[in-house]
Amino acid sequence: MTEPARVEAFDAVDVIRAQRDRTGNSEAALRWMVDAYTREYVTDAQMASFAMAVLLNGMDRGEIRVLTDAMIASGERMSFAGLGRRTVDKHSTGGVGDKITLPLAPLVAAFGVAVPQLSGRGLGHTGGTLDKLESIPGWRAALSNDELFAQLRELGAVICAAGTGLAPADKRLYALRDVTGTVEAIPLIASSIMSKKIAEGTESLVLDVKVGSGAFMHDLGRARDLAQTMVALGTDSGVATTALITDMDTPLGLAIGNANEVRESVEVLAGGGPADVVELTVTLAREMLALAGQPDADVEAALQDGRAMDVWRAMIRAQDGDPDAVLPTPRETETVTAPSAGVVTRIDAWDFGVAAWRLGAGRARPQDPVVHEAGIDLHVKPGDSVAAGQPLFTLGAADASRIPRALEVLEGGWAVEAVAPATRPLVIERITA
Ligand code: URA
Repeated sequence: MTEPARVEAFDAVDVIRAQRDRTGNSEAALRWMVDAYTREYVTDAQMASFAMAVLLNGMDRGEIRVLTDAMIASGERMSFAGLGRRTVDKHSTGGVGDKITLPLAPLVAAFGVAVPQLSGRGLGHTGGTLDKLESIPGWRAALSNDELFAQLRELGAVICAAGTGLAPADKRLYALRDVTGTVEAIPLIASSIMSKKIAEGTESLVLDVKVGSGAFMHDLGRARDLAQTMVALGTDSGVATTALITDMDTPLGLAIGNANEVRESVEVLAGGGPADVVELTVTLAREMLALAGQPDADVEAALQDGRAMDVWRAMIRAQDGDPDAVLPTPRETETVTAPSAGVVTRIDAWDFGVAAWRLGAGRARPQDPVVHEAGIDLHVKPGDSVAAGQPLFTLGAADASRIPRALEVLEGGWAVEAVAPATRPLVIERITA
């Protein structure tokens, strides 16, 4: 005997129309839409249409909460309650040269706190933490839940691939948004990020919301709205959440790519590294440790005296990587020099992100490999004075044919002028509940 057909409680077209016409959907209708999409009853075309209506018309806080809850309910919920350590996570909305997770996770873990960093891969111009770490020979991104818990218990820090069980509705919806021009909607970004973080079961969370040319949010007003929305979602769900709004008009640090970003992170763990990477690492570590009950932790000392480095080395070894391995370097390089003496006034995050991506550091399709040694090394940052002929940045690729297209996108992406630029601070605002 065949099973009777399931009677669906709502009709997708009605839900889409209500979102399009701003007449409002009930909580039950929104929950059904997410559930029916996860079951593949609602089609990609219907969900794309719904997502576009959300992008164009927005959602109120109540609707965003329902959407987030529905995405959490689509999968498993983890709990770190039995770990015997406080847990605190960090999430960045994504930027160029953003390798902060690499030094930050071992630094915070050096204070006895557990830092579960369930991370992703890069798509488009922003890099992925797992892609960067896979530059280390042998390093393994996929861990079982047992391995993840054991590593957190022993070392405190783990950076690994997020399993497929957390918020599977988001996994489908994010891939769909990526190809339908609906990534930038604040309700969709907030529910996407927070559903994964709440389902993961962290006790507390620090959000690094990027604003600028290399970020999803190009203006401060929208970045603030996103940050406030996510802080409210986390707090209402019992996750102590703080957000920092930070600059992404300029790439972070000097390295943009994969292997070179790991190298720069190790410099920070060794007590050196570029000032902006150190500043953001230390600021985020302080926020995380304050949420974990250690507001007076001396984080700079843990970078200087090798405690954070010790955790890093153990963390890489635990995932079969060799922390002493020589990282790959590009075979083909080209250096761009200053045409005249002056001050560097612009290194545009978006243009440099796209150029690094064209060199092979990023992927165009999820199934593509990344070239670990490809990327860009900056020799200067905005505000630096340069002499005519001084190196500004070096492009690196495995294949010389990739270099001209990267140079093309960099035309207009940097400037050397007579007058120093007005700069804004790296950490622009702090948002709390
Ligand atoms: N990161 C996510 O996980 N989701 C988004 O929508 C944007 C950034």
